[in-house]
Amino acid sequence: MKATAFAPVNVALIKYWGKDNNNLRLPANSSLSVNLTNLGTTTMVEWSKDFINDLADERMIQHLDRIRKLAKFNLKAKVITKNNFPSSAGLSSSASGFAALTLAATAAAGLKLSENDLSRLARLGSGSACRSIPDGWAEWSKGNNETSYAKTIFPADYWDLRILVIILSEGKKAISSTSGQEGVKTSEFYRVRLNGIDSKIKKIKAAIKEKNFRVLGEIMEEDCLSMYGVMMTQKPSLMYWLPETIRVMQAVRQWREEGLESYFTINTGQNVLVFCEPKNENEIVKRLEKINGVIEVRRDKIGKGARLLA
Ligand code: DP6
Repeated sequence: MKATAFAPVNVALIKYWGKDNNNLRLPANSSLSVNLTNLGTTTMVEWSKDFINDLADERMIQHLDRIRKLAKFNLKAKVITKNNFPSSAGLSSSASGFAALTLAATAAAGLKLSENDLSRLARLGSGSACRSIPDGWAEWSKGNNETSYAKTIFPADYWDLRILVIILSEGKKAISSTSGQEGVKTSEFYRVRLNGIDSKIKKIKAAIKEKNFRVLGEIMEEDCLSMYGVMMTQKPSLMYWLPETIRVMQAVRQWREEGLESYFTINTGQNVLVFCEPKNENEIVKRLEKINGVIEVRRDKIGKGARLLA
């Protein structure tokens, strides 16, 4: 009763920020993301009556309990999990982590769940994890416990865009996305942001359909800043950026003025993700690597969803 799964990191172009206050992780707004090809989490789960305790952290133990309930057994779990990137620094380790855990633990239990069911279950572990289950471009709809899951809207190979993952510091963030979201309603901008999301999703989907990189990038960048507008005006106020984060944002804008096009987005952390077209990738990487404070630039592409390795 053992299985190993890999799940990719996903990057939201339209962010999830705000949810109900019970354990269902029902988002206040729909969101839209792409999976990465290289960055992700590999997780091995083994169920056995011989283990004394679960080998996992508290949030993972709660997730294993959900799976025990579905499998109708009471076995203990051994979990070995590894991220191939720095954790808790705004690179969505909880998304890839809970997606990989969901797939490995259900497969090891012999459960055969549909992609939608896996996505729904991953959502209960960490909201954004539901988007790391399906391939490529994914949309996670707000809704109720049954209808709120992510599905592919365009396949991974639909549009060859490059995503540059800029590691600025390996320091961990002080406030997790889970606790950060508790204060959303205290921001005067929260409602305003929510009111505009559906039309933004419509526009960005049209831009993907037409492969209009400029419109895609502008909406993505604007939505990141809109989420930060909420974060910064919440009480207590959240601010994840470092001086080097802002340096990268300003450089990206400066290069755009000069005709070298790319757009940034940031999650809850200091690191920045930059989207560009393949023809500009080498030049942008070269310039990013010269920015003071940039430790590493990882090149990535749009990839498939969670899958079993063994
Ligand atoms: C800024 O999915 O980590 O990355 O549901 O509490 O686990 P929980 O939150 P989480 O929040 C992700 C927030 C974000 C935006 C996004 O990925 O959409």
